[in-house]
Amino acid sequence: MTREKGHAGKGAMELVNEVQRFQFTRLARGAEAEDGADVVAGLTSAPKTLPCRYFYDAAGSDLFAQICETPEYYPTRTERSILTRHAGEIAALTGPCEIVELGSGTASKTRLLLDAYADGAKEVHFVPIDVSESVLRESSRDLVSRYAALSIRGYSGTYEQALAALHPAPAPARMFVFLGSTIGNFRNSERVAFVARIRDAMEDGDTFLLGIDRRKDGAIIEAAYNDSQGLTARFNLNMLSHLNRRFHGDLVVDNFTHRAVYEPRRHQIEMRLESRVAQTARLADLNLSVSFARGESIRTEISKKFDPEELAGEFTALGLGQVALWSDARQWFSLVLFRLGAR
Ligand SMILES: C[S@@+](CC[C@H](N)C(=O)[O-])C[C@H]1O[C@@H](n2cnc3c(N)ncnc32)[C@H](O)[C@@H]1O
Repeated sequence: MTREKGHAGKGAMELVNEVQRFQFTRLARGAEAEDGADVVAGLTSAPKTLPCRYFYDAAGSDLFAQICETPEYYPTRTERSILTRHAGEIAALTGPCEIVELGSGTASKTRLLLDAYADGAKEVHFVPIDVSESVLRESSRDLVSRYAALSIRGYSGTYEQALAALHPAPAPARMFVFLGSTIGNFRNSERVAFVARIRDAMEDGDTFLLGIDRRKDGAIIEAAYNDSQGLTARFNLNMLSHLNRRFHGDLVVDNFTHRAVYEPRRHQIEMRLESRVAQTARLADLNLSVSFARGESIRTEISKKFDPEELAGEFTALGLGQVALWSDARQWFSLVLFRLGAR
């Protein structure tokens, strides 16, 4: 493993050559999005909130991978089944391209795409982007060992940092990929701004493959975020341990309870951490003391559920035309392919 240091825009970055055919750029902590200002803003707002990216330290990424395998968590299984059926069609529609995946995680479903793109290809280029460095490294090492034609150029950092630092587009095109309905974690206005950022990183003819969880009976959705093994509860509570470690905090994890409630008017599940007692905690590095009333909640995640037609209208307004849509038989989940400039 070798390292080189440099600068990308405002933030420092470090290029790490991990193993043959896998290198990644570590986008600096201490850059704007990484200094905990978002934690201070969230914990001093009413109601209190925390950005969901703080779920993903090594333990959080591992818990998320386990959640994906629970019987209640239908999104992963359903999206995988759609990819299994349609990855070949997706590859035929885009032609050869570099695959840039936002929030790639374990990239377990991405393998279905890589299978389709590697079929008969001399070279396949994959660009995973993830805030959790441990999962990025582990999954990428595994992928290069499985695919002889694959080369990986990853980014460990936030989506925004990576989009700003992305290397020049190779010929002939790129496909941006955002799976797992992670797009549901943005509020409406944030989502539009985020998609506009991706669009700005695209060139004419580039494509965007998006996984979306669709609207359905709220009981099915609530069960998915309240699995019987308690993994989602552990995942939610782990955010507090992550914040303690990262910002020298003394949040008492046992003083909080996991809640996940579906809000039908907003078509979103909301994950919260509810304070069991009146308490005050401190995050020393952020110079922040925060008090909680008994029963008060921190909202740690929203996960919106979509109507694909509504969403396609939003994307069209941003210059991204829908090329194809694939769904499962129950219409619980969809994969949508957009192209910049397509109508
Ligand atoms: C819901 S998981 C989805 C993982 C995978 N794409 C899937 O479909 O199973 C979200 C992934 O995005 C990463 N992530 C979350 N917030 C992020 C951010 N702001 N910037 C970069 N990565 C982020 C997490 O570490 C995690 O791997």
